[in-house]
Amino acid sequence: MTDQNRSSGDMPDKEGDARGQQGRYLTTAQGARLRDTDHSLKAGRRGPILLQDHHLREKITHFDHERIPERVVHARGAAAHGVFESYGTASSVTGAAFLQHGAVTPTFTRFSTVLGSRGSADTVRDTRGFATKFYTGEGTFDLVGNNIPVFFIQDGIKFPDVIHAAKPHPDREIPQAQSAHDTFWDFVSLHTEAQHHTLWNMSDRGIPRSFRMMEGFGIHTFRMENAEGEMTMVKFHWKPVLGVHSLTWEEAQMVSGADPDFHRRDLADAIEAGTYPQWELGIQVLGDNEDQTFAGIDLLDPTKIVPEELAPVQPIGKLTLTRNPDNYFAETEQVAFHPGNLPPGIDVTDDPLLQVRLFSYQDTQLTRLGGPNWNQLPINRSHAPVNDMLRDGYGQQDDHVGQAPYQPNSLDGGCPFTAGDGEHAFNDLAVKVPESVKNRELSASFEDHYSQPRMFWKSMTQPEKRHIIAAYSFELGKCREQAIRERQLACLAQIDPVLCQKVAEALGLEAPEPAEPLDDRLEPSPALSQLGRSWPV
Ligand code: HEM
Repeated sequence: MTDQNRSSGDMPDKEGDARGQQGRYLTTAQGARLRDTDHSLKAGRRGPILLQDHHLREKITHFDHERIPERVVHARGAAAHGVFESYGTASSVTGAAFLQHGAVTPTFTRFSTVLGSRGSADTVRDTRGFATKFYTGEGTFDLVGNNIPVFFIQDGIKFPDVIHAAKPHPDREIPQAQSAHDTFWDFVSLHTEAQHHTLWNMSDRGIPRSFRMMEGFGIHTFRMENAEGEMTMVKFHWKPVLGVHSLTWEEAQMVSGADPDFHRRDLADAIEAGTYPQWELGIQVLGDNEDQTFAGIDLLDPTKIVPEELAPVQPIGKLTLTRNPDNYFAETEQVAFHPGNLPPGIDVTDDPLLQVRLFSYQDTQLTRLGGPNWNQLPINRSHAPVNDMLRDGYGQQDDHVGQAPYQPNSLDGGCPFTAGDGEHAFNDLAVKVPESVKNRELSASFEDHYSQPRMFWKSMTQPEKRHIIAAYSFELGKCREQAIRERQLACLAQIDPVLCQKVAEALGLEAPEPAEPLDDRLEPSPALSQLGRSWPV
């Protein structure tokens, strides 16, 4: 059958509709064949143009509305489809079906910088996003992490503040790269909890060689529940099979100029060549206690890591990226991640940063993706059957049947089946968090902003330390306010005197003495203080 004599009874299925661009002939958006798309309809050869030219108006109007807002953060990204194969080694701690032995789950992973706009360069010094959608048979799991295991702030209410400080200056809109300006240094020197993340940014981790050579971290502590209903706390880690590699600062600068698309090209080329990027997913298993602490570390504090010597990362599966997106906009741009997209067997903790994220992503996507129905976009569609009673709204794609989108109801054949006691369901865990946990105070270690940065610094090799000194010297050198430079030097003095001294020398300033003794002020964890080289390099 040709496109011309297709009758309404021969409509393509919904899958086909979603692909767009069917058939061999150029048509209007309604499928009527066109003779000419190069010339507008005019009164005579020289115009004026006629308002009745529907094709002209349709073409121009649609073009005028092609752009959607870029993400408020993580606007620049590149992504790929893949597959996650479970080793089954997490089955003792979680009942999540996609983590049982032999389970194979399709995925979509988007890597990003945080601060640059959609057209910015790839190799700037910045944190990288590492977000993976697992299309599991029990509902989608989004692991929305970064390539640095800690975050700048401890409470999500400060997220607009840190982003306002780190984005380009409001007057001149420069720079795009993180950290080389007054507002960034103003923020991190006033909010000392940000020093740990900043130190990682100033290290070689801030300029990865390739997305394929980055670690990824879920950062927050999550909960898992096994088939027996036992809970445990975990942290997620991605370990690249190619190992962790960075650019030098000079390389990053040159590559930015010669090929601003370096990371996205590297990812797409590798997949096209069949050298599929791979990561092992691992978890640190951190037990369960009412305080939500491990070896003296408050697990609700996203500015702290749990050193791997104390809780080794246990591999639970492997991710392989196997296919580039067909269409950047439809997939990489329209994908919508959400840290609250969790399958039964995985749940959140009370980490105050994570708790605010649970609100923020859905809220921003209402604007970014034009209404509440982005879950129906092909890239965001669940691979599990959906029966959600959500109805209507801008961009509605579904043709819902039935007359009673509420429950319980006695019209549409009774109530939809809900999970019963003992069955695996979303949000099982949250309701089981004991009252005593909800009433507890933040632990004093939330106020300790320096002992873990100091350990990170001590774990570095000499060349790595030189790179960090050079990075602080360069970036702080771009900060014009003398008072901010001095305040940041005072923070470095609390981390390490040599680091502070060297950066002060480069800036032509006096190195301040630490205001507090460098010993951990607050209950040093015996386990932590025994450690020497604590981080994988
Ligand atoms: C986007 C990670 C904290 C708000 C993203 C993305 C990643 C990410 C990877 C990009 C997602 C994509 O590729 O589409 C993280 C991590 C955080 C963190 C690891 C802390 C541990 C926060 C906080 C907030 C926030 C505290 C708000 C309070 C957003 C928003 C977007 C975003 C609004 C854009 C989402 C979109 O437009 O689709 N984040 N983020 N993030 N994040 Fe976060």
